[in-house]
Amino acid sequence: MDIESFQTDLIDWFEMEMRDLPWRKDQDPYKVWVSEIMLQQTRVDTVIPYFTRFLEKFPSIEVLAKADEDQVLKAWEGLGYYSRVRNLQSAVKEVHEKYAGQVPDDPNEIASLKGVGPYTAGAILSIAYGKPEPAVDGNVMRVLSRILLIWDDIAKPSTRKIFETAVRGLISHEKPSYFNQALMELGALICTPTSPSCLLCPVRDHCQAFEAGVQNELPVKTKKKKQRLVEMVVAVVKDKQNRILIRKRPESGLLANLWEFPSAEIVLGYRSEKEQFVDHFHETYQVNLSLGDMVGRIEHVFSHLIWNIHVFKGELHGDIQEGPGLKLVKAEELEEYAFPVSHQKIIKQYLGV
Ligand code: ADE
Repeated sequence: MDIESFQTDLIDWFEMEMRDLPWRKDQDPYKVWVSEIMLQQTRVDTVIPYFTRFLEKFPSIEVLAKADEDQVLKAWEGLGYYSRVRNLQSAVKEVHEKYAGQVPDDPNEIASLKGVGPYTAGAILSIAYGKPEPAVDGNVMRVLSRILLIWDDIAKPSTRKIFETAVRGLISHEKPSYFNQALMELGALICTPTSPSCLLCPVRDHCQAFEAGVQNELPVKTKKKKQRLVEMVVAVVKDKQNRILIRKRPESGLLANLWEFPSAEIVLGYRSEKEQFVDHFHETYQVNLSLGDMVGRIEHVFSHLIWNIHVFKGELHGDIQEGPGLKLVKAEELEEYAFPVSHQKIIKQYLGV
């Protein structure tokens, strides 16, 4: 392929067609970083309002480094994959302390930060610092698998390196930021997963898959295994003063440090789900509980599991010891805490908040 003409066609198109996105207003490495973390596993349209609000609340490395984690989680509430923001905050603390608040522009230093993998490192280095580093995510692999006719399985972690090597050979050294962003933009607007718009593609003349008519067979991506189904009970439990019991989830694992209504995994077709939950509750909090009938059911799909939530309302019989991870709050106060989406749905549907 004629690399120079490929670069020109790609970058000229990007300069004409690039979307007006809030993180493209300047090249502040902190903003690029936040946007790239949010954009992992999350669509551009979803990210835009979160990005804007997050930067209003945490406008600089210093502010985010010093922020209370509960506030940070609250700003991320609903975006999912919460370890992303916990890692972001710990990496930002490291940048604040170790690099005087300047995001490093050295590939090894930046890649050593928590949550900054090869993709994010490459995106920050190219977009904020103009360095010709590859930024290869699933979208870029899709685009390049077609242009370069690469048949390796993009679901395999080892495949990313093949594409990084390819980008090193193709990337514009004059405009590495635009080159990488143009590949992302092409993946979002033209070279989509199904039915790519080849007739509108600015680099169609360079695309080997188009030439061979196999654009719909690429990329090769083996299916991930099915999610595990988890049955669970979640109870909205009130005390005599009509306060609602919430607890903080453990500091590691799924939805770490988010708040939730008391919950327990159960086994279907064994004892009743109510009985299992009441026993679990008593063992955990040493307080008796009565549950009413089931009020609803909510399904929530994660990347690796599915929660089938049976929702109950309950009443506390006796006093419960509040602490940093266990609180009784009024319905109006729930909005101060960050809840997983499934528990936000419970608030909306069953608490009328
Ligand atoms: N997806 C990942 N990074 C992106 C960016 N900087 N702009 C648009 N979409 C993206």
